[in-house]
Amino acid sequence: MKKITTTELIAMKARGEKIAALTAYEYIFASILDEIGIDLILVGDSLGTVFAGYQTTVEVTLEQMLYHTKVVSRSVKNALVVGDMPFMSFQVTPEEALRNAGRFLQEAGAEAVKLEGGEEIAATIKRIVDAGIPVMGHLGLTPQSIHKFGGYDVRAREEKEAEKLVKDAKILEDSGVFSIVLEKIPHQLARKVSQSLTIPTVGIGAGPYCDGQILVTHDMLGLFERFRPKFVRRYAELARIAKEACSSYVKDVKAGAFPSREESF
Ligand code: KIV
Repeated sequence: MKKITTTELIAMKARGEKIAALTAYEYIFASILDEIGIDLILVGDSLGTVFAGYQTTVEVTLEQMLYHTKVVSRSVKNALVVGDMPFMSFQVTPEEALRNAGRFLQEAGAEAVKLEGGEEIAATIKRIVDAGIPVMGHLGLTPQSIHKFGGYDVRAREEKEAEKLVKDAKILEDSGVFSIVLEKIPHQLARKVSQSLTIPTVGIGAGPYCDGQILVTHDMLGLFERFRPKFVRRYAELARIAKEACSSYVKDVKAGAFPSREESF
């Protein structure tokens, strides 16, 4: 299998080849995704909700992200590993952002970082990219701003916000990002943005016209059941399978049916 790099992702867009991306936070799923040939693994701060049980991603810290990124990059050989910069790790100053971005590569083995935001963080992105660290952008529903948005509704339905998003995407491209995540925006807007850029867009809840797609693995495998966004296609029902298996174990233990003689020494 071919090692995926940021330049390869851009070449895939040029060839019209779709990019398939998923999230991972630990060794087992990262190994599975790498083995099946996923292009990009995002160690997303979504781990705050689907792994740690927080209400939002705002609570996730830099140290937590570095730990999970290190675990994932240790098990990945081919996919591009992107570490998600958490809330307050890049907003204060470009210098602090650069130092923190560097930790993702140097300490945690990531090959790129992702930052949420548009024009307001363009100078920060440029500073990080100029230091040799590839950056992925993230526009639309940016969950670290959830308290500003007041909810997880579709973004950029209004013309003014849509126009700003198109402008932001161009500014991010000019600042040097190698790709942009577009989250929960109308599909026609995602198409317009994707067509206007040379770098690939990776959509989540942004329709079929993005250059790639990403989902939270815990959502698409049916592991996370607290809520089920419309844009998630469930490819398995692992929570149900796990509950059935664990219930069988409990039943066997209670009945004295486990362990058997064969499972004993
Ligand atoms: O944190 C995350 O997993 C993300 C994806 C949903 C794009 O940002």
